[in-house]
Amino acid sequence: MNTPKLNVSGLVKKFGDLEVISNIGVTIGEGEFISIVGPSGCGKTTFLRIVAGLEESSGGEVRIDDTVVKGPGIDRGFVFQNDNLLPWRTVLDNALIGPEVSGGSDAAAKSRTMDLLKLVGLEGFEKYFPRQLSGGMRQRVNLARALAIDPKILLMDEPFAALDAQTREIMQTELIRIWEQGRKTVLFVTHQIDEAVFLSDRVLVFARRPGRIREIVEIDLPRPRNLSLKRTPEFAKYVDLIWGMIEEDVRHSVLVEKE
Ligand SMILES: Nc1ncnc2c1ncn2[C@@H]1O[C@H](COP(=O)(O)OP(=O)(O)OP(=O)(O)O)[C@@H](O)[C@H]1O
Ligand SMILES: [Mg+2]
Repeated sequence: MNTPKLNVSGLVKKFGDLEVISNIGVTIGEGEFISIVGPSGCGKTTFLRIVAGLEESSGGEVRIDDTVVKGPGIDRGFVFQNDNLLPWRTVLDNALIGPEVSGGSDAAAKSRTMDLLKLVGLEGFEKYFPRQLSGGMRQRVNLARALAIDPKILLMDEPFAALDAQTREIMQTELIRIWEQGRKTVLFVTHQIDEAVFLSDRVLVFARRPGRIREIVEIDLPRPRNLSLKRTPEFAKYVDLIWGMIEEDVRHSVLVEKE
């Protein structure tokens, strides 16, 4: 592993009497791409929100470069499942929200954000409004917005879940391309095991509530990766392995908890 970037130890979260996260500990290296998979309700979003500083833990701590996280900060960018673009702002102005909030929306920030829009494939759409964009394009704006504050850590909660299968695959390759250029530390939550395997250096497999890390699977597949990797037996082996780890938990969360 590279230099440790993010260290989580003894993390516990309770909502009232409900314990949703129980003793999570993990160290993530600088520039590592980590995915989190696990059954619905196992605390993935809660975990990400605690790392983002949007939610307080009930015990344990999250450290970034040895500093304990006490709240949100510009060292972390967040991309949610549903795009939350402001409909009355253009693509560029939406992407500039981060720099604006952190007090740096000057000409330099604007020019850097224009570059980012280019990076995510939105050159020429800077003056469009969200309603004039497809779902995939809106998610690209979201990604550019998270990158605009130049965070060291990118937290992504099912960012492609609302997209159709083809767009989703394109976004996966785009995300890898962008990550290869900047090598941020990424925490990426997904329900798609193949997406997790395709993108990641390691996959954290969460167990059902209270959320814990059941296994950590190292994905030893060569980079750079492209979509043809998904058709190889090595890839399928990882997907089967991880699915085997969570199958029973998923069955339980679908059949028992949802009754
Ligand atoms: N603000 C809150 N108040 C009370 N309970 C909450 C709150 N947020 C989450 N929970 C509970 O914590 C548990 C974990 O929720 P969380 O959203 O983290 O799960 P998840 O793994 O992201 O699920 P999904 O895969 O469906 O998105 C759930 O039982 C949920 O009801
Ligand atoms: Mg969630």
